[in-house]
Amino acid sequence: MGRDYRPGPRQRIEQVARQGSSISPLEFCNDVISLLGFSGSYLVANCESIGGTAAKPFLKWAGGKRWLVERHSDALPRFNGRYIEPFLGGGSVFFHLSPQSALISDSNARLIECYKQVRDNHREVVRLLEEHQKLHSESHYYEVRAKIYDCEAAKAAQFLYLNRTCFNGLYRVNMNGFFNVPIGTKSKVIDESESFSEISEALSKAEIRHCDFEETIDRAISGDFVFVDPPYTVKHNLNGFLKYNEKIFSWDDQVRLRDAVVRASKRGAKVLITNAAHTSVVELYEGVGELRFVKRSSVLAGKSSARGSIEELLVAVG
Ligand SMILES: C[S@@+](CC[C@H](N)C(=O)[O-])C[C@H]1O[C@@H](n2cnc3c(N)ncnc32)[C@H](O)[C@@H]1O
Repeated sequence: MGRDYRPGPRQRIEQVARQGSSISPLEFCNDVISLLGFSGSYLVANCESIGGTAAKPFLKWAGGKRWLVERHSDALPRFNGRYIEPFLGGGSVFFHLSPQSALISDSNARLIECYKQVRDNHREVVRLLEEHQKLHSESHYYEVRAKIYDCEAAKAAQFLYLNRTCFNGLYRVNMNGFFNVPIGTKSKVIDESESFSEISEALSKAEIRHCDFEETIDRAISGDFVFVDPPYTVKHNLNGFLKYNEKIFSWDDQVRLRDAVVRASKRGAKVLITNAAHTSVVELYEGVGELRFVKRSSVLAGKSSARGSIEELLVAVG
């Protein structure tokens, strides 16, 4: 009996050039990358698509990791289990990978309810968003901001409408839990190029939970990949935000997070952490994983003319 013939990367790329695509976009990208001579160990597996046609993040979120997927996606490891993201926010990495199976969570209850509605009820959410688009004005913004809706789809549309039209896409609530960000300059509520059915499809493969990060990381097992993007706090933070930060995400939380990551990696999961490139954080992760410093551009003081560069820390564990 003859041996099975599996065409190599070069033959498969030539075949795509001659006959069109008979292989998946992922296989094609992997072939091109392997012909260019990069190490296979950092290629992303178990994902349906890499950028391009995949669903895109639909929320503007502070600390979003678009820069990471655009410039440092080589830091995302190959994995064949579940994709786990305990600090979901706008979900830049989740949408970039569009994984076949995922567990995503966040401690922000309204954010998580919005994700669930977009997954399960996107047509109604979009219909309500279109209503907000028609009515958008300063008075409508403040009316919607003050309103308490009963229906879950209306709550999700409220969350999205405010996220898209508030000042800088910020999320901030007062002591009583009421969203208190003023109106911003953007008036576009619906972007025609955005596909909520693709977003819903990507989310349909995810278990979505409202919970603390530790509960989620503790569910990671061998083969899973955990992407960890916590709020950034450093140990000796003596600026005016200390009190506020302590309430939201304290240094004790950073230590609790490091310990949860160590436990997950001992169970065989791979973890990538992003954090501030600060000595206290470097010390926290020394000996735990491979530390890598990366630069990203930033806009200083909200002025696009004042561009700067910020250093961030990536820690790969497992
Ligand atoms: C830096 S943001 C994540 C940004 C996200 N990776 C993105 O690309 O948009 C951090 C997130 O952690 C969430 N968070 C804060 N404390 C948390 C906790 N104790 N457990 C889980 N999530 C928490 C916040 O609600 C916020 O959405």
